[in-house]
Amino acid sequence: GGPTEILAIESSCDETAAAVVRDGRVIISSVVASQMSSHERFGGVVPEVASRAHVEQISLVVDEALQKADRTLSELQAIAVTSGPGLIGALFVGVTAAKTLAQVAGLPIIDVHHLAGHMYAAALSDGVEPPFIALIVSGGHTELLQVNAGGEIIRLGKTRDDAAGEVFDKIARALELGYPGGPLIQQLASQGDPEYFDFPQAKLGDHSFDFSFSGLKSAVLLHLDRAKKSSQPLRKADIAASFQRAVVAALIAKTREALLQTGLDTLVVAGGVAANLALRDAAKSLCEELGIRLAVPDFWLCTDNAAMIGAAAYMRYKQRKLADLTLTGRAEFSI
Ligand code: KG4
Ligand code: ZN
Repeated sequence: GGPTEILAIESSCDETAAAVVRDGRVIISSVVASQMSSHERFGGVVPEVASRAHVEQISLVVDEALQKADRTLSELQAIAVTSGPGLIGALFVGVTAAKTLAQVAGLPIIDVHHLAGHMYAAALSDGVEPPFIALIVSGGHTELLQVNAGGEIIRLGKTRDDAAGEVFDKIARALELGYPGGPLIQQLASQGDPEYFDFPQAKLGDHSFDFSFSGLKSAVLLHLDRAKKSSQPLRKADIAASFQRAVVAALIAKTREALLQTGLDTLVVAGGVAANLALRDAAKSLCEELGIRLAVPDFWLCTDNAAMIGAAAYMRYKQRKLADLTLTGRAEFSI
């Protein structure tokens, strides 16, 4: 048949987003309404505030995405939506909108796992297709996945405590930088010495691909506490740079092991933290060293958006993995 154009909706956290994507590769339109300013003064996402903002934004955002794409619903082939994981009230808004539109237009619904969305963002920027190893690092998740040629996902490891982005946000708060913390830490770290302090990295045994960041987080907070009590000026930039180096080293160490063990020749790094320059540089060096291909999404496709949901949905559409009107949001489910 002709091209497959999918309207995708994402509302799992604090961005209300819609996009029209062709064949999982071409972004025809993408609209992201950020609630950042509503949550900033709380230093994090407030679920009730998020749900209400999604309700206010969703119709406007969907209309804008269709308008920018110069498409009507009847010209599209399917409607895709993030069904989880995420904030349950926030997810319901997107899922309900998608079901209503699908019913009205007589289109199939495709449900997308939020992390699959992050991963397939790399397909929009790079055209990459499975098989590959994917390191997904966001505010809520840190996962190392093996994705086989048919798109089948095997989880090799995950974080046992905080997600990578979550630690960035927590350390940023302790450094009184603001929210979200990742970009602010990165900015400050660029003026600091990454070798200033050697923060400890978790050792979870040789055979595990799991991550743990709680030890690192405690060490940084403790260091900061002591530094604040001393009479020396607080070396915020050096602490930020040293912290960032430790997080990146931990992520890259497990990723290297996964690549070596599986022998796969492509690495995808995705999720909000994949916007981090130090992580992107380290991934690039690793892939050069191993002689393999690195695929990362463009910066603006790393953080939450709906285009990535449209890209992931295409894979499911081709395999006829469709949902129906019984679809509901789910706060937690593994990929
Ligand atoms: O994927 P995302 O937009 O939302 C979730 O699904 O969680 O990721 C947001 C996370 C936040 O924790 C934010 O601090 C982090 O990604 N982040 C970064 C950078 N940009 C965003 N972390 C480090 N460096 C960055 N440049
Ligand atoms: Zn996300």
